[in-house]
Amino acid sequence: MTQSPIVEILPDKAALIERSLDVVMQKLTLALTEREIATIALSGGSTPKPLYEGLADQSLPWDKLHVFWGDERYVAPEHPDSNEGMARHVWLDRISIPPENIHATPTHLSDPTAAATQYEAEIRRVFATEAPAVPAFDVILLGMGDDAHTASLFPHTPALSVSDRLVTVGNKAGQPRITFTVPLINQARCVLFLVAGENKQPALAQVFASEADAMSYPSRLIQPQGELRWLLDQAAGANL
Ligand code: 6PG
Repeated sequence: MTQSPIVEILPDKAALIERSLDVVMQKLTLALTEREIATIALSGGSTPKPLYEGLADQSLPWDKLHVFWGDERYVAPEHPDSNEGMARHVWLDRISIPPENIHATPTHLSDPTAAATQYEAEIRRVFATEAPAVPAFDVILLGMGDDAHTASLFPHTPALSVSDRLVTVGNKAGQPRITFTVPLINQARCVLFLVAGENKQPALAQVFASEADAMSYPSRLIQPQGELRWLLDQAAGANL
């Protein structure tokens, strides 16, 4: 049985980011009272960048944190589009986290399918969880596109229906992406959406509608076992 989503509408993006920092710190701190390590999967795009900048100024036992990416463009970390490169630049390069705790997607491999398989194996290794069990991340950060995609789960793509893997190959306009699957995201203890901007209103209306096609609005597929929390700014959430 999934819990009802928690929806918080903050006055502006700065307040949304400040609130997201509080929530992420709460969840990671709680995780470390219950388990040896805390696990987080990062989202890409532009919205979470100031959150990662804020995390760089926080204090946590970084040697107990394991960082993954919920999705990644199929580029090298040095590429300007790289979600890994962005998070390393504004956060991970600025804290004393052991390099082996940063689990980047292997986008150096020529075959995205092999990269997805290798990333899944890395997740299973860190969580010590054999297939078919699905590991539970403490926090999975997500954004949402104007088309209601999340991670790299784009409308009407095969990735939406993958149910027997943790990681698969997403497809954005013919470009491969590495993405967590719906089952892996939905196993999380906390899924935190950060959505800002008026341009997200139409997609949010469909995601929160009582009836709508999840294949057209993939963020509807995110119904985690744990907490689902939406942090919206007023511009995005005004009409909910
Ligand atoms: C990516 C993201 C993607 C993103 C949304 C929202 O790799 O682009 O993971 O799912 O979260 O597109 O992006 P913005 O935060 O830039 O609006």
